[in-house]
Amino acid sequence: MLEVIQNRRSVRFFRDTPVSGEQIREVLEAGFCAPSAHNNALLHAVVVRDEERKGQLAAIHKWSKLVRKAPVVLVVCVERKGFDHFWIEDGSAFMENILLQATSMGLGTCWIGIRGLEAEDRCAEVIVRNTLGLPGNFGVVGMTPLGYGSRYPGPHEPRIPEGRVHLDSYENAMDS
Ligand SMILES: Cc1cc2nc3c(=O)[nH]c(=O)nc-3n(C[C@H](O)[C@H](O)[C@H](O)COP(=O)(O)O)c2cc1C
Repeated sequence: MLEVIQNRRSVRFFRDTPVSGEQIREVLEAGFCAPSAHNNALLHAVVVRDEERKGQLAAIHKWSKLVRKAPVVLVVCVERKGFDHFWIEDGSAFMENILLQATSMGLGTCWIGIRGLEAEDRCAEVIVRNTLGLPGNFGVVGMTPLGYGSRYPGPHEPRIPEGRVHLDSYENAMDS
């Protein structure tokens, strides 16, 4: 597991190699295993293969352009209904499981922030909702391209940043 976690890096360049429906299914199954508050989150994913819609998603902000070249984009949303205090956490756990499962299958991903983002006076969440025809009560956590990477930054080195772990109380730094 640690190896998959270390290998997960943001991949921003993709090959044309297609991603199968079965691969997408496996990635999403892992997503839906994520923990959620009260085990009650109404998680949704939109699988985007359509070139025009991918183009619209890529144009949302300057950091989302990279999704244009990926064969698939997964958009992670939460249907906000009833008690949903933890919808951001629920959606984020969903997203992280998706990223890790994709990594374990040799696929590249990159979390693209959408939620709460205003770019040039345009609300990113509204653009995504309009592009994908999502109901108004859907919160958009983010999206990720999914595909075989053509550039990989290399795995993370396992490390604990100095002074960030505390034993029992903040004042006791637990540095090794
Ligand atoms: C909430 C969130 C939003 C992000 N938004 C973007 C984005 O819009 N564009 C992008 O290229 N990367 C985005 N990233 C990826 C981060 O830049 C990346 O995770 C970070 O630089 C660490 O690199 P790594 O993912 O390779 O470990 C986002 C990551 C998170 C968690």
